[in-house]
Amino acid sequence: MMEMREIRDGIYWTGKVDDRRVPFHRLILEKGTSYNSYLIMDEKNVLIDTVDFMFGKEFTDRLGSEFDLLKLDYIVINHTEPDHSGALGSVARKAKNATILCTEIAIPELMEMYKLGIERFRAVDDNETLSLGKRTLRFLHTPYLHTEETMVTYLEEEGILFTCDIFSTHVADTRLLASELSDDESIDADFIGYYSLIMDPHRRYVNPMLDKIEGLGVSMIATSHGYVLDKDTDRYIGLYRESAEKVKDVRTVILFNSMGGNTKRLARLLGEELEKTGIRAEVIDANVRPKEEILAKVADADGILVGASTKYADISGNLEGILAEFKEMDLQGKVAGAFGSYGWSGEAAHVVQDYLKEAGMKVLTTEEAVRTTGMDDVSFPLRVRFKPEDSIFKVKAAAAYFADKVRY
Ligand code: FEO
Repeated sequence: MMEMREIRDGIYWTGKVDDRRVPFHRLILEKGTSYNSYLIMDEKNVLIDTVDFMFGKEFTDRLGSEFDLLKLDYIVINHTEPDHSGALGSVARKAKNATILCTEIAIPELMEMYKLGIERFRAVDDNETLSLGKRTLRFLHTPYLHTEETMVTYLEEEGILFTCDIFSTHVADTRLLASELSDDESIDADFIGYYSLIMDPHRRYVNPMLDKIEGLGVSMIATSHGYVLDKDTDRYIGLYRESAEKVKDVRTVILFNSMGGNTKRLARLLGEELEKTGIRAEVIDANVRPKEEILAKVADADGILVGASTKYADISGNLEGILAEFKEMDLQGKVAGAFGSYGWSGEAAHVVQDYLKEAGMKVLTTEEAVRTTGMDDVSFPLRVRFKPEDSIFKVKAAAAYFADKVRY
């Protein structure tokens, strides 16, 4: 474990540089990584994030040898994932006077993970401030970047933004500060590579986060992996904006068969949600338009949603005859999802999904959404009981997820 290192007056990096080939999010980080934690000394002393769970005891012992943990007033946890909160249990047990600050959603997770009582925690609101004496912390919630409970912490008087995963790089370099690199060393590839791996699956949350930090005046981005960005901060923030706004013009088809009107309304609601994101969505009733015309539109589309009501555990009307043609077409790799309203059992959406898979399409599923983004509010096939308006959050989540997948 490296010594603490002062990066501004009274502000110390106190993390761990991990130069192993680190297994992470189903990849091996060839350049290693670091877990950056920070200690702010003021009238109130604050620790911001910790290190990976496997270095928890080492971290706590080292920190405790350089700083009296009983003088710690707050521990800020910006993100619960254990590569940053991993030492919370051991630190909090020694720092008996410290209150743990995090979002409300994070509290039960941290209580369970580190067996800490509720009395140790205080939830901070979005945009809430906390005076440390000479300086002030401001907490900004940044949901889904990259998990639901995340936030960033801004030290106003210093212009330092503590961002945990956001703006990070997976590099083990004891130089720590980006300004210590020579002019011919660029970190852009590592920076964009990290964005693509961790943030891009959540890109619709990136611009709201950037809007939130715009105008703060950030002179240093204190990340929790890799380099501390102590120069060119506007350029790095701009790279996130540029990446998040990179979109392509796409067209989609929403094909449906509806018995009582609920699946038709669900198709229309999905279409409206897609149009709100700027994606063209043509909603087509399989029982009204000629099969050849429908197949031509499907062939031309970048993404297809197909919905069916359930009749005696099966699809009714013309839709099945159209779906049967899909496997004869070249639809490989097109993004697809199934949906349907039902009253009792709702098997039809699953039958539709089978046809889409058989055609070799990139079929969205609940499991795939959890695996790639950790989001558990996305359901595919999208099945709603009776009126779709009663399940509007589910409909919006599915449409937003489909929009992301088809557009990027
Ligand atoms: Fe670096 Fe989401 O943990």
